Amino acid sequence: MRNVFIILVYSILLSTELIAQNYDEAKVPSYILPDVLKAQSEKVVTNVKDWENIRRPEILTLFEENVYGQMPKTFDKYEFKIKNENKHSMNGKAHLKEVEIAVTNHNQTVMIHLVLFVPTGIKKPVPAFLLINNRGKNNTSPTRDTLSGFWPAEQVIDAGYAVAAFHVNDAAPDHKDSYQNGVLRLYPEQLKAGNGMKAIGAWAWAASRIMDYFENDKDIDASKIVLTGHSRGGKASLWAAAQDSRFAMCVSNCSGNTGAALSHRRFGETIQAINTTFPHWFADNYKKFNDNESALPLDQHMLVSLIAPRPVYVTNASEDLWADPVGTFLSLKEAERVYGLYKLKSALPESIPAINMPFVKPPLAYHIREGVHDMTSYDWAQFIKNADLYFKSR
Ligand code: GCU
Repeated sequence: MRNVFIILVYSILLSTELIAQNYDEAKVPSYILPDVLKAQSEKVVTNVKDWENIRRPEILTLFEENVYGQMPKTFDKYEFKIKNENKHSMNGKAHLKEVEIAVTNHNQTVMIHLVLFVPTGIKKPVPAFLLINNRGKNNTSPTRDTLSGFWPAEQVIDAGYAVAAFHVNDAAPDHKDSYQNGVLRLYPEQLKAGNGMKAIGAWAWAASRIMDYFENDKDIDASKIVLTGHSRGGKASLWAAAQDSRFAMCVSNCSGNTGAALSHRRFGETIQAINTTFPHWFADNYKKFNDNESALPLDQHMLVSLIAPRPVYVTNASEDLWADPVGTFLSLKEAERVYGLYKLKSALPESIPAINMPFVKPPLAYHIREGVHDMTSYDWAQFIKNADLYFKSR
């Protein structure tokens, strides 16, 4: 009831422009980003060793404490079962496996359903794309009765990759009243803590449990998994890849606020807006930064940096100003400094590229597609090109 009231008041304030979302570049107030390389001791990190031993762990803790919450690493039991398979799926070009993953802790079990297609007729093990699906389950149909550009499985299979997906609701229902009915049943202490994980933390946790499965499937090269997410799923893909270095690459499509876009830059969605409409996504501590971005001891360029030296592909769509394309590109640019420590030269241009002019080159890739907030077969074609470049160079 209280939440409904807050959302109602907030919507009224928004519509009367008492809380205005800024869409005017000229009205972005000046801001100072926290320095990704400056450790809490004030020492500026200049090499990989100090980054990995000092600054990186500091930043990971900052995100846990202030944004996404803790990431529990232990559980009592892990089991998986192939519930259904079809060796001649997609007219024979793929082997379908539907896998039920059951994870138990404190006598509570969460079941995560994985849909996986492996290309047939090529040498195994193969690299794979894993999608954190935040849209309808029909987008990742195992029977292929529905085809969707959001998860163009045939296109990925034709490129020689396995393609997999799980649905966010299996890990944490995407609703403020029911998000607790999943992974959080296994970790009830998280619900009471200011730095306890919520839905996005639970989705990221589930992506790691799928990775545990990949390590047990001989058809899959678990050292070559591209974790992919769109929008809220793209926030989760970044957080999962930051936490779990087993993911070889990360794709964060149109992830916007508290995804790849900078928060200190006031353009489009704000922390207050996201925490009000989606109070079940982030740790309670994050609410301290509502309308208080300048107090944040971190920003999203530091999240991208946590994934270094592994490649990251970030996108926007031209009509999706809510996700702040410029702020997203700037965040990626800032992360170049950490890739630089690994002597990885980024090919990104100085300012945001033109629409439909993808910069496909690891370690940092970016494009802004013409159109609306979505993930399409055009976007996937670029992700595949980027993965080809990276995996074939190793
Ligand atoms: C809303 C939300 C965004 C989010 C998006 C989505 O627009 O404000 O932060 O990225 O939903 O997940 O599609």
